[in-house]
Amino acid sequence: MQFGISRRAFAAGAALLPVACSRAGRALPAAATGGSAPPLPALSNPLVKQRADAQIFRHEDGNYYMTGSVPEYDRLILRRSRTLAGLADAEERVLWRHEASGPMSGFLWAPELHFVGGRWIVYFAAGPSGGGEDVFRIRTYAVICDGPDPMTGNWTVLGQFDAPWDSFNLDSTIFMHRGTQYFAWAQREPGIETNSNLYIAPLATPLTLAAPAVRLTVPTLDWEVRGFKVNEAPAVLERGGKLFMTYSASATDARYCLGLLTADADADIMDPHAWTKSPEPVFTTCRETSVYGPGHNSFTVDEEGRDMLVYHGRDYEAIEGDPLFNPDRHTRAQRLYFDAQGNPDFGVPVGNGPLPERFAPAGRSGVWLAHAGTRAFVGSAPLAQTQFRSLPDANGDLRLSPILLRDHCLAATASGGVEIRPSAAGDRAPGGDLFKRRPGPRKDCVILESAAYPGKALAHDAGSLRLAPAGEAASIWDIS
Ligand code: AHR
Repeated sequence: MQFGISRRAFAAGAALLPVACSRAGRALPAAATGGSAPPLPALSNPLVKQRADAQIFRHEDGNYYMTGSVPEYDRLILRRSRTLAGLADAEERVLWRHEASGPMSGFLWAPELHFVGGRWIVYFAAGPSGGGEDVFRIRTYAVICDGPDPMTGNWTVLGQFDAPWDSFNLDSTIFMHRGTQYFAWAQREPGIETNSNLYIAPLATPLTLAAPAVRLTVPTLDWEVRGFKVNEAPAVLERGGKLFMTYSASATDARYCLGLLTADADADIMDPHAWTKSPEPVFTTCRETSVYGPGHNSFTVDEEGRDMLVYHGRDYEAIEGDPLFNPDRHTRAQRLYFDAQGNPDFGVPVGNGPLPERFAPAGRSGVWLAHAGTRAFVGSAPLAQTQFRSLPDANGDLRLSPILLRDHCLAATASGGVEIRPSAAGDRAPGGDLFKRRPGPRKDCVILESAAYPGKALAHDAGSLRLAPAGEAASIWDIS
C-alpha cells in the first residue's frame, strides 16, 4: 500500500507595507501603532497532506508536536515546530514501526503523544497483519521514550492497555481534570450491537484503570450510524467552567462528522448523566468549502493562545473502495470560536487556502462583516457567513473572499458601495475588488483601503457596507 506523500505550504503573512499617510493625505492610525498591519494568517489548509487522525498540541517547551495516522498504517510518526504553520514542512521522524509478526504487525492507527509522569508516551491502536489472524483485531498499546526529547529518544513498547473487554478498542486520549488523569477511548462492548462506543475512567498507571470504565455514549442517532455504528476519537477541551468532549461518528467517508458531549466542569464526570449529548452533529461535510468527512479532531491553541480545532478531511467526495484505504484524509486546522453561552461554535470546515478571518466593527460585539449569498452586510450571522479569506495578488493587495462563496469577493463600487461579485481575475480597477490591509489604532484591528479608490476604505454603516475615508471610525475593523 505505497502512496505518494505531498505537502503544500502556503507561505503567507506578507504584512503589507505600513503607510503613514494615505494618498488622500489623511493621517492613518499607522502613526498611532507606529507599525504594520496585523500579519495575514500564516497557516494554510490542508496543513499536512495524507495525515489522518491528527493530534497537535503545544507543549510547555513552546513547541508544537504533531502525530497522526499515515496511509500505510505501518509506523508512528512525529513532527515538531515552533509554529503551527511550520508543521507543514517540519521534519517527520519515525518513532516506531509495526512489528514483523504478532498483534502489532498490521495496522497502526491514531497515535497520540502524551507527557505522563515525566515520560513521553505514545498511545496507538494496532492489529495483526493477517496470516489467519483478523487484521481488525485492533487493541490499544503504548510505546515509551527513554529520553527527554521525543524527536531523538529511543522508543520501545510499554505494553497493551488493560481494557475492560478483550474487544476492538482504539482512539485513546488522556486528559487531566481536577487533578485526576483520565483515559477516554472507543471500544466495542459485548452485548451492544455497535462498532464502538465511548468510555472514560481515571488512570492508575499508563496502561491500567483506577476504576471501572463508564460508558458515555453509544451511537444511536441517524448521523452516528451511517455506514458503521461509530462513536470514536474522543477529544477533550475545558473552557469557561465546562468540559467538552468531541467525538467522531459514522463511516470514515463524507458521512464522517463530529458529535459533542458537554458536562459542567464541577460535575462528577464519571457519572454518564453529567454529560449532555448534542442531538445534531456539530461539524460535518461542507460542499461550499469542499471538505468531506471532517473528523477525528484534537484541540490546540495558536501562537496567540487562541483556540484551534485540528481535524482531518478530504477535498473530494467520491471514494473508490473502502474509505479506510483512501490516503487523502488531510490534516486541517482552523480557529475555534465560542458562542455567547460559552459553547464551542465549530462552524464549517473552512476549506483549502489561507485561514479566513472575521471582521467586526471596532469596539462592537456580536456583529460582523457578513454575507447571505451575494448580499453583503454588517450584522449577526452564522459563523461561516462571517469568515473571509484574504487572497493576496501579485502586488500584495488583497481580495476578500467569503469561504462559502470561494469564487466571489468583496468589491467597492464607483458609487461608494460595496458588493460581493465573482472574482474578476487581474481586474484592479474600476472593479475595486482589491484592498490594502492597513494598521488600525490598536493591535488586532485593520483598515481595508480600497486599491481602486485610494483614501477610501471598507466601512460599516449600521447594517450595511460602504466606502468611507480611511481612518474614520467606521473604517476600523477588529479582526478575529
Ligand atoms: O484512521 C484509522 C482509524 O479510522 C482511526 O483510528 C479511526 O478514528 C478511524 O475510524
